[in-house]
Amino acid sequence: MNIADKTVLITGANRGIGQALVSEALRRGAKRVYAGTRSALGNADKRVTPLTLDVTSVSQIQRASDEVDTLDVLINNAGVSLYDDLSNSDVIEQHLAVNLFGGFNVTRAFLPQLRRSKGAIVNNLSLVALAPLPVIPAYSISKAAAFSMTQSLRAHLAGQGVTVHAVFLGPIDTDMNRGFEIPKASPESAAQGIFDGLEKGEEDIFPDLASQAMAEGWRTGVVKALERQFAAFVQ
Ligand SMILES: NC(=O)c1ccc[n+]([C@@H]2O[C@H](COP(=O)([O-])OP(=O)(O)OC[C@H]3O[C@@H](n4cnc5c(N)ncnc54)[C@H](OP(=O)(O)O)[C@@H]3O)[C@@H](O)[C@H]2O)c1
Repeated sequence: MNIADKTVLITGANRGIGQALVSEALRRGAKRVYAGTRSALGNADKRVTPLTLDVTSVSQIQRASDEVDTLDVLINNAGVSLYDDLSNSDVIEQHLAVNLFGGFNVTRAFLPQLRRSKGAIVNNLSLVALAPLPVIPAYSISKAAAFSMTQSLRAHLAGQGVTVHAVFLGPIDTDMNRGFEIPKASPESAAQGIFDGLEKGEEDIFPDLASQAMAEGWRTGVVKALERQFAAFVQ
């Protein structure tokens, strides 16, 4: 899939990786970029259409879907991350509301457009979907659940021409991990890595240096082989 002349929708588009994805989509010649945000967004580029889109709001998701006639690429990027220690189940629910059900409900609402275009769904996950980071266990649970959803959607939509991509981001320098002092990639380089992976047709995308170290082992590993074996039951 080439991004040039395509229509792309990005959630959480006002800062961090989402904002970088908007710029990168424009740089690659996207025809229209729908920028989903909770608060009003200004962008000088005429190809950007702002969409009010809190991914936990069923009515805002429906209204956004009604406003978009055609869509080639949906990027479920909006996310939250809070430190916790698994002492309070409310924190798990807070993460699931955005990181699992948010992306799930947005995806369902835009499926008619994506089926028509034979488009792509890109879910911004994390390396912690594969192994939990115990300083953020609730976040890790939500990303693991979102990965499982991604794998099942991939199997169910394969016969309808819609591809579903998991993005395993490593640490990226955004507000989300401000104060966590480890090496981080820039949001701009992560956005490039995500679109490079999508343009190459990779179903699992490892967009930054930290995540790329995992890529080969993941693609040839037993878990990936098991995913393919199980997926065959619905194809
Ligand atoms: N940064 C990292 O190291 C890292 C690593 C792995 C994965 N990721 C994933 O990459 C994605 C982007 O993260 P980031 O680093 O760019 O984070 P960020 O800078 O904290 O930005 C988060 C974005 O999500 C939006 N958002 C939060 N709740 C929302 C809701 N209910 N509805 C709509 N938008 C909502 C925020 O909007 P507001 O401004 O309105 O709050 C903001 O635009 C997330 O899914 C994150 O889990 C990030």
